[in-house]
Amino acid sequence: MADATVPTPARLASRLHGLGTTIFAEMSALALETESVNLGQGFPDVDGPREIVEVAVSAMRNGRNQYAPGMGVPELRTAIADHQKRFYGLSVDPTREVLVTTGATEAVAAALLALVDPGDEVLALEPYYDSYVACIAMAGGVRVPLTLRPPDFRLDVDALRAAVTDRTRLMLVNTPHNPTGTVLTDDELRAVAQVAVEHDLVVVTDEVYEHLTFDGLAHRPLATYPGMWERTATISSAGKTFSLTGWKVGWVTGPEDLVRTVMMAKQFMTYTSGAPLQPAIAAALAMGDDFYAGVSAALQDKRDRLCAGLSDLGLEVFVPQGTYFVTTDIRPLGYDDGLSFCYDLPRRCGVVAIPHEVFYDDKEAGRPLVRWAFCKRHEVLDEAVARLSTLAGHGPD
Ligand SMILES: Cc1ncc(COP(=O)(O)O)c(C=O)c1O
Repeated sequence: MADATVPTPARLASRLHGLGTTIFAEMSALALETESVNLGQGFPDVDGPREIVEVAVSAMRNGRNQYAPGMGVPELRTAIADHQKRFYGLSVDPTREVLVTTGATEAVAAALLALVDPGDEVLALEPYYDSYVACIAMAGGVRVPLTLRPPDFRLDVDALRAAVTDRTRLMLVNTPHNPTGTVLTDDELRAVAQVAVEHDLVVVTDEVYEHLTFDGLAHRPLATYPGMWERTATISSAGKTFSLTGWKVGWVTGPEDLVRTVMMAKQFMTYTSGAPLQPAIAAALAMGDDFYAGVSAALQDKRDRLCAGLSDLGLEVFVPQGTYFVTTDIRPLGYDDGLSFCYDLPRRCGVVAIPHEVFYDDKEAGRPLVRWAFCKRHEVLDEAVARLSTLAGHGPD
């Protein structure tokens, strides 16, 4: 979303005005420049499973280097359908109800471009993942925020009901939610489903953190709720679950008509995605339950480690139920706003974090909040906390 320090290029189409440069690129560049510990962008600092990398290498060595079918290679589509059955009991036809995309990012973009007409209202949870804002704008849609507020960042179901108008076309849901770490409860999901059915809305759900939930909490896809399969495009990707964020292999599942609709846009964006990576992700999805349990257990340890460290520094910590991220209120450190805190931090103590404010229309709601990524090695998390301890109690310069 808009960053006041980046000038708008003179020839930029008006629908992209105000979007600025993605905060992640900006903060990662600042991390490099200042040799900071980067708890900004959400990528793990260890590689995904070696055996999965070997499947991709072998696919490259064995001639799987030309365009894959537009819908994705058959073994990956089958593996995605099997995954939906295995974890959620959903019966998905791999030939017609699965589309492989270039990451969840392309899936979200294609879904919004294919489903939203100019002037259509799109309901979305705020704080927003930043590509949502850009994609709604590129589609000419009007975003309507459903604001999640601290300390619990729960969905206000009455506000959701009140936000629906005759122009509402689509609801964009993200659970587990980046950046707050909220995992929508059964009651919240049921309320979303009721509203969607009652008003005949299409729902696009971004579930890229589906396996990264903590404390035994299970993710449940919206598509499993009554009346939802036929109106829901469910998006996920391999990046987060398998620590392979650079591969950008994502997918959409849903009823044939919705998947075909998303394909209408996707075919002219990339047509097809990373051919030799697809059989490798098929193998990854088929890994045993131990693998999946291990991923969330290891991440829960990291969450606990960083949350304890941040809390010891005096920050107010909102412990997440899922994702790679923890949110804090930085006011106990003497700052009022997360934006200046995050711009100061790299030079003051060599740590990068992300201000929530950039994810909000309601800037006030996000102002004192900062997001920290904990998908890092323990020593990196410890180093970040050690560096931050030089700040505690000192307030802004
Ligand atoms: C909520 C959410 N959706 C989508 C993405 C992007 O997924 P991918 O890398 O598969 O495009 C991210 C990455 O941070 C995310 O947090």
